Amino acid sequence: MKKGMIKATDAFERIVHWSLAISCILLMITGLGMMFHSLNFLAVPVGGLKNLKLIHNFTGLFFAVSLFFSILMWWREAGVFSFPEDIEWIKTAGGYLWHVDHVPEVGKYNPGQKMFFITVALFGAVMVVSGLIMWFPLSLNMNLVRFMYFLHALGFLVIFPFFFVHLYLGTIGSPGSLPAMVTGWVTRAWVKKQHPKWLHEMEESGKLVVYGEEKKPSSHHA
Ligand code: HEM
Repeated sequence: MKKGMIKATDAFERIVHWSLAISCILLMITGLGMMFHSLNFLAVPVGGLKNLKLIHNFTGLFFAVSLFFSILMWWREAGVFSFPEDIEWIKTAGGYLWHVDHVPEVGKYNPGQKMFFITVALFGAVMVVSGLIMWFPLSLNMNLVRFMYFLHALGFLVIFPFFFVHLYLGTIGSPGSLPAMVTGWVTRAWVKKQHPKWLHEMEESGKLVVYGEEKKPSSHHA
């Protein structure tokens, strides 16, 4: 570890994120394996479609718990838009799509990340509820149960493409991001580019954790 690296995420945050990510990916693979004849071969290594369904359903429970903690942990920073800076950022598309001289500074998560979080939170909940009703239809109205199959497919259509955008931006699309989710330590240059306002706020409040440096006392004493 190099001196001067900045702590962007703690262990809890990383465990929750990976639980969410791994369960989500496993759900997408097992779900697709059940849905399409041409992908039924995905059930071969686990001994057939019945087992694939069991894995899918129980992974769903694991996903539900991970989603619950993700929402609890991220809703404040990634679930609420701040005005006017988030609107200004959206107007420039964060500088991702065309050249922008100065990208407006936003908080810990930019509006694109916030949209992703809100989509995952909302449609993730739709997947959990619809999935549970499909698993345990009890004696609910048949049309309601059928509607859950529709919602489950709709949720997949929304989350699936978003996942690839997120995967791209979390790795090669925005170099230096991955360590935030692997070790938790990132470079100052990356924080300056990705989370400039958060960097100022953390520095001002003396909460920024820098590798190899003592915590600086707050410069804003009463
Ligand atoms: C293995 C694939 C994945 C990689 C490499 C990855 C990478 C990352 C990285 C680097 C961040 C931090 C970004 C930052 O601090 O600026 C992040 C945040 C996040 N990830 Fe992932 N992720 C993956 C899968 C997933 C999946 C499957 C989900 C949800 C179903 C998810 C949901 C989130 C959320 C909600 C955040 C916080 C807000 C945001 O940055 O959008 N991630 N991810």
